[in-house]
Amino acid sequence: SQGRVVILGIYVTDLAFRANRMPVIGETIAGSAFAMGPGGKGSNQAVAAARAGAEVVFCTRLGNDAFGEIAQKTWAAEGITARATVLDDVATGAAHIFVDDNTGMNAIIVASGAAGTMSAADVDAIEADIAAAQVFVTQLEQPVAAARRGLEVAREHGVTTVFNPAPAMPLPDDIFPLCDYVTPNETEAAALTGIEIRNADDARRAADILLDKGAGAVIVTLGEAGALLHSRSQSVLVPAFQCGPVVETAGAGDGFTGGFAAALARGEDPVAAMRFGCALAGLSVTRPGTAPSMPGLSEVNEVLNGTLMSR
Ligand code: RIB
Ligand code: NA
Repeated sequence: SQGRVVILGIYVTDLAFRANRMPVIGETIAGSAFAMGPGGKGSNQAVAAARAGAEVVFCTRLGNDAFGEIAQKTWAAEGITARATVLDDVATGAAHIFVDDNTGMNAIIVASGAAGTMSAADVDAIEADIAAAQVFVTQLEQPVAAARRGLEVAREHGVTTVFNPAPAMPLPDDIFPLCDYVTPNETEAAALTGIEIRNADDARRAADILLDKGAGAVIVTLGEAGALLHSRSQSVLVPAFQCGPVVETAGAGDGFTGGFAAALARGEDPVAAMRFGCALAGLSVTRPGTAPSMPGLSEVNEVLNGTLMSR
């Protein structure tokens, strides 16, 4: 079976500006391109998981406005079941993404808007969806109280929990025992542990700290170096997949997390699920946009099979 994934998080509309370098304070520079599209880490993860073949429920809050309509159209087109509360008094959020034309690297300001008002009540309203899923995923763009309640409810129902602690912020220790998998990138791992991540050894040391705080397993995503799975029973570095020239890296972490969750939900073991997530993310960075750049299941499988044959 394809597996069910419930994701709690934010939707925002991404406003992406490309230029041949980043502006500095007080400066105006000419951009080379502008694009608007669906974004927000939770919604991006939902799109990645749905395109990867999972049955996806996405829980968030929207404003009663044009950006909220883009969200609803996006989810309908992707076959995602939306549990979205629409507010009349708060606007749907937006993210301003700077993309460097030369490297594809980015800097982002995200304003969560309506989704920034989420609370534990949003989780309680979808308890039946969570109970029916194999995997629950959340992040930190909405209040941590909502993320924490989601992890708790999933745990109560024996659902595998994936916590993507993004964006980087310090957290109370008692959230980690609720997590089967914690998936920080280098910056987020550093914020959670105080260890600067320059290589896989640093990532292992940071992961050990999160294991001591009670996480079941830690996956540190390392950009072009791949992703490290570290638990009490195994430590495995899964290499990244180079699928072509890098156009835009924003959303790559979401591609990994969404793909990992979809693969886990259909019964793959964690290392196989990570390879799937890495291949998905590797394809996504070769295309512009965040959610729109997520590949479909067959494309990811082609990358996985092609690489297997060429080794
Ligand atoms: O992870 C990328 C996402 O972070 C973007 O889509 C942007 O909306 C920000 O929330
Ligand atoms: Na992309």
